[in-house]
Amino acid sequence: MKQILVTGGCGFIGSNFIRYQLSEYPDISVTNLDKLTYAGNLENLKEYESHSGYTFVKGDITDADFVNALFNSNDFDAVINFAAESHVDRSILDSSPFIHTNIVGTQVLLDAARSRNIGRYVQVSTDEVYGSLGPEGLFTETTPIAPNSPYSASKASADLLVRSYIKTFDFPAIITRCSNNYGPYQFPEKLIPLFISNAQEDKSLPIYGEGTNVRDWIHVIDHCRGIDAALRKGETGQVYNFGGNAEMQNIEITRLLLSILGKPESLIKYVTDRPGHDLRYAIDCSKAEAELGWKPETKFDTGLKDTVQWYLDNPEWVNRIRSGQYMKYYDQQYGNRLNS
Ligand code: NAD
Ligand code: TYD
Repeated sequence: MKQILVTGGCGFIGSNFIRYQLSEYPDISVTNLDKLTYAGNLENLKEYESHSGYTFVKGDITDADFVNALFNSNDFDAVINFAAESHVDRSILDSSPFIHTNIVGTQVLLDAARSRNIGRYVQVSTDEVYGSLGPEGLFTETTPIAPNSPYSASKASADLLVRSYIKTFDFPAIITRCSNNYGPYQFPEKLIPLFISNAQEDKSLPIYGEGTNVRDWIHVIDHCRGIDAALRKGETGQVYNFGGNAEMQNIEITRLLLSILGKPESLIKYVTDRPGHDLRYAIDCSKAEAELGWKPETKFDTGLKDTVQWYLDNPEWVNRIRSGQYMKYYDQQYGNRLNS
């Protein structure tokens, strides 16, 4: 594999994935196609700007003419599609960009890749397509798709589209579904980086509902290793689940973060629950272990401490994001809840 197209490479997971590829495979050439939405940050890959194996292209995966021209002027061996609108709360406020990017964008990429006979396509998906678990059980790759948020419905739609191309056109795609990621470069609207940043500024930590919802947390590098294994060793047409074997209630994580930061629990503020809030996600990743030789390596305690340290060491990165456009969104999302 010499030349790969990564979409959404200026976001959290995509930028970690590109860094992983360029450091693991010195001869690889990576093209990063990203629209630079509010979540795309060129700074995430600043150190690679002049790297000979890295090319950034600003563009929209839903723009078929643009995408086709990019495919025609390159010789990609593989496409890894990270580009997406990714935040559940935003999808509740306005689902239209989710439908457009996550579904139409996937269709445009699939058609472009098909017309150029690309040998491998990886759709980076989420465990949220499976819906919500009760207190027991785990998602496997055969769990029925039952999304509950506009975000997860748009990701599930994209997965079904990919599946249809596999079945109808013998298209060489793989779908990966991962649990909640944490680690460096995560946009501070998601639980962990939002709470680290708020706590540092002695601002409230808004916990939805009672804080008893459970997520399975995986370090972003373990997810990147999983996608890499699927890309290179996965079987066409297969779905692979990745998880961190680290189930935690939101309130438990919040208390852990406060204790790492040395901040008081009085910062915790219970706010109105997220509509349709999925109770619990938990992943069975034995298929990836058996077939790809992959398993998560980062222990949650160590990974969380390292992540907190990364945010403490990179205040300018956080401050630049937390000013400007992000703050407008922040007010819309939390203004009423924190004042009620
Ligand atoms: P992110 O929001 O941090 O980054 C998304 C990136 O996609 C940004 O750089 C943005 O500019 C780009 N983008 C958005 N719309 C685009 C468009 N139309 N054309 C080109 N680029 C566009 O997201 P993330 O957390 O890094 O997630 C990456 C992928 O992984 C997503 O597909 C998401 O569904 C999936 N995923 C995320 C998690 C998680 O915990 N964050 C877990 C499982 C799966
Ligand atoms: P989030 O990071 O948005 O990921 P997802 O919704 O994709 O799982 O949220 C993780 C959990 O934290 C989820 O149960 C919702 C909860 N949450 C809060 O309680 N408060 C917040 O401010 C945010 C952003 C999330």
